[in-house]
Amino acid sequence: MPGAIYAEGLVKTFGDVRALDGVDLDVPEGTVLGLLGPNGAGKTTAVRVLTTLIRPDSGRAVVAGVDVLKHPNEVRRSIGLSGQFAAVDEYLTGRENLQMVGQLYQMKAKAAKERAGELLDRFHLSDAADRTAKTYSGGMRRRLDLAAALVVAPPVMFMDEPTTGLDPRNRQALWDVIKELVAGGTTLLLTTQYLEEADHLAHDICVVDHGKVIARGTADQLKAQTGGERVEVVVQQPEMIAGARDVLARYGVEGTGHGDVSVENHIRKLTVPVTGGAKLLAEVIRDLDAVGVGIDDIGLRRPTLDDVFIYLTGHAAEREEEEENGAAGAPGKSRKDRKEKAS
Ligand SMILES: Nc1ncnc2c1ncn2[C@@H]1O[C@H](COP(=O)(O)OP(=O)(O)OP(=O)(O)O)[C@@H](O)[C@H]1O
Ligand SMILES: [Mg+2]
Repeated sequence: MPGAIYAEGLVKTFGDVRALDGVDLDVPEGTVLGLLGPNGAGKTTAVRVLTTLIRPDSGRAVVAGVDVLKHPNEVRRSIGLSGQFAAVDEYLTGRENLQMVGQLYQMKAKAAKERAGELLDRFHLSDAADRTAKTYSGGMRRRLDLAAALVVAPPVMFMDEPTTGLDPRNRQALWDVIKELVAGGTTLLLTTQYLEEADHLAHDICVVDHGKVIARGTADQLKAQTGGERVEVVVQQPEMIAGARDVLARYGVEGTGHGDVSVENHIRKLTVPVTGGAKLLAEVIRDLDAVGVGIDDIGLRRPTLDDVFIYLTGHAAEREEEEENGAAGAPGKSRKDRKEKAS
C-alpha cells in the first residue's frame, strides 16, 4: 500500500529547466521524510506539486490516500503547509492571524482563541501577540507562519525549510512541536538545509539534485555510503599545511593522492576519510611528527550528513548567514571529480 505521501515519476519543467525530472517518493504514515538538496534542486517545486499549488507535466501523486491531480480540493482538506516564505497577514496582529486560520478551518471561536494562545506561547510570541505582524522581525514572522500551519494538526504536513532564519531556541521549540505532531500520527515532509535537523527528525532522507533523487535511505545508511571515519587535524602554523597534506594523503581511503584531503586554510584544518580507527590515528600522529608538523588538535570522527551532502552533490549545503560571515565550509569535490581522479 502506498504511504501517506506517494509520488511516481513527477516531472515539472519551467522553460528549459527540468525542476523535477522523474521524482518518486513514498512516505509511510506517521513518519518524517527529509528532502535535502542544494539551492535550485527542486525541493520547493516538489512541495508545490504535492500540495496542489502547481500541476506537474507528468507523473502521479497520492496524498492522504487521495489523487492530487484528480481531487486537489479534497487533498487540501487533509494537509497543512508551511512555505519557504512566510505568508502572514501584515495588518493583523499575531493573535488575529492565528485565530483567523482556526476559523477558516471551522473551529469554534473559543477553541480558535485557545489554540492561538497556546501556539503564541510555544513559539515565544506572547509578548508580541497583540502587535500587527508588519512590526515583526524576520524570525518572528517565520514563527508566526509556522504556528499558523499548526493551528489544526492535519494528517499530512509539508514544511519547506521551516527553521531557516530561526535562532537556536526557537529551532528547538519547533523540533519539539514536530516530534509531538509525529508522535500523534502526522506524516511530515520537510525540506531543510540544516543537515543536523534531518539527522534529528527524519526517519528517511531523500537527496535531490537537478530534479532527480540521487540517494535515499536513513541518515546512517547514507553516512555508511560515504566510507568510514574522518581524521581531522588542526596544525599549529599555516606553513605546516602542505606537509600535513602530504602525510594525510597517504591515509586517504581512495589513495589517489591529494584530492582526498580537504583543507580549510583559514582555520588550519585538514580532513581526510580513512578506515582503520584509533590505531591509525597513532600512526598519523607519528608520521606528522616525523616531518615536523606541529598539531594543535587531532581527532577521529564519524561522517556527518554534511559529509554525505558534499560527497553526493559536490558542494556544501548553502546557508546564507554563514556565507555572509565567510564561514562556509571548504569547497567540496563532486562525485564526478572523484571518478575522474580515480581513473
Ligand atoms: N515559477 C518558476 N518559473 C521558472 N523557473 C522556476 C520556477 N520555480 C522554480 N523554478 C526553477 O526550478 C528549479 C528548482 O527550483 P526550486 O525552487 O524547486 O528549488 P529548491 O530546491 O527549492 O531551491 P532552494 O534551496 O533555493 O529553495 C530552479 O532552477 C528554479 O529556478
Ligand atoms: Mg526552495
